[in-house]
Amino acid sequence: MPKFIIQGGHRLEGEIPVQGAKNSALPILAAALLCEGESVLENCPALSDVYAACQILTSAGCQCRMQEHTVSVKAETLENSEIPESLTQEMRSSIIFLGAMLGRMHTCAVGYPGGCELGSRPIDLHLQALERMGVRIHEENGILYCSAPKGLHGAKIHLQFPSVGATENILLAAVLAKGETVITNAAREPEIIDLIGYLNSCGADISGAGCSTVRVQGVKKLHGCTYRIMPDRIVTATWLAAAAITGGTLRLLHTDVTSLEGILDVLEQMGCQCHCTEDSICFSAGKPLRAVRSLKTMPYPGFPTDAQAIFMAALSRAEGTSVFEETIFENRFRHVDALVKMGADIQTAGRIAVVHGVKQLHGAAVSATDLRGGAALLVAGLGAQGETILTEISHIDRGYDSPEILLSDVGAVIRRVF
Ligand code: EPZ
Repeated sequence: MPKFIIQGGHRLEGEIPVQGAKNSALPILAAALLCEGESVLENCPALSDVYAACQILTSAGCQCRMQEHTVSVKAETLENSEIPESLTQEMRSSIIFLGAMLGRMHTCAVGYPGGCELGSRPIDLHLQALERMGVRIHEENGILYCSAPKGLHGAKIHLQFPSVGATENILLAAVLAKGETVITNAAREPEIIDLIGYLNSCGADISGAGCSTVRVQGVKKLHGCTYRIMPDRIVTATWLAAAAITGGTLRLLHTDVTSLEGILDVLEQMGCQCHCTEDSICFSAGKPLRAVRSLKTMPYPGFPTDAQAIFMAALSRAEGTSVFEETIFENRFRHVDALVKMGADIQTAGRIAVVHGVKQLHGAAVSATDLRGGAALLVAGLGAQGETILTEISHIDRGYDSPEILLSDVGAVIRRVF
């Protein structure tokens, strides 16, 4: 099993180009299945989740090729509407293929994703919405059999919570459905705007990207296009947190500053300086880092749940006490025990974590329990004195493209050991 060996305490200094966004690439790869022409997706990160999405496309009958960071998908004729169970287990977000397969083939069988390391993660909002669009669903032995023999039709759908995945699944099901679909209380995350940008470039008719109300007029066909995946805002946040904890200065290239307001605001509260152009950030760490009194995760444009663990790692070395409230997922403090093992002073109660900053973290043998929790331990290891041995890094490989190479280039001492 691969692991990272990190010698902490080295300031990060230099430039890092930011990869394309995983959470944009995955729904856009699913959307490529709706198009009868070829889609060429640029800036696709090389990640295990992206490879799993390509395997799902191939198993459906698409021709899918990845060269460097460009994926081409040809979905002229499809032959299989069952998503292999092994791939559902490998990647929870395979549920996003449900809307796309229903939109194109009017039928889909997919393993029920069940709970995961972040909590129970139900998909009731996805299924209720699809039912309103004419889909019949029954579950047998953990498989969801979904079909719309007469095709899908538009519907008015109000989401009780602005779920990212449910909004994406509805969009994917609605673009080829008959008539108009109106989603209210839709998720407004930048990755949703990116998905809509791709779909509209392929001939879809969607308005309201980035708003709570999104309208989709169904069209008969989609064609392919060439599209560039947006930069990853959580990876950007991770490198900024890593620079902050090491007292470093970094220039991040090819990022998207407009999607980072909540994150940059917190970094400024921490005493860091961020000089931004549209697509780059010149960052220098606050010396010392200051605590942030209250940090509450919220749907976009609030502070992202995906950055919570990463900022907890950085703030564990800040002066003062920071209080985190995790409102999105019920079980997203699994990194805390490992941070405490590295010398952090953190107490949790339910969805609250209180972080009393300490002067120094020390290296330790720790394990990643999930993607962003793993990234948090990577950040902590870079800022700790001594050696950290970080295992279970396959979690990190789901979201970060070659992190050890990028970090070594800016002065970190980190290697992957097999
Ligand atoms: C997406 O997950 C992201 N994944 C997550 O990123 C991210 O943390 C999350 O959005 C929130 O921003 C991808 O984009 C692939 P949700 P998703 O539906 O779509 C509850 C990462 O680290 N809910 O907005 O699954 C749910 O249980 C990952 O990159 C229901 O109750 O998130 C959760 O508590 C992890 N019923 C909350 O809503 C539903 O039907 C938010 O979930 C759907 C969701």
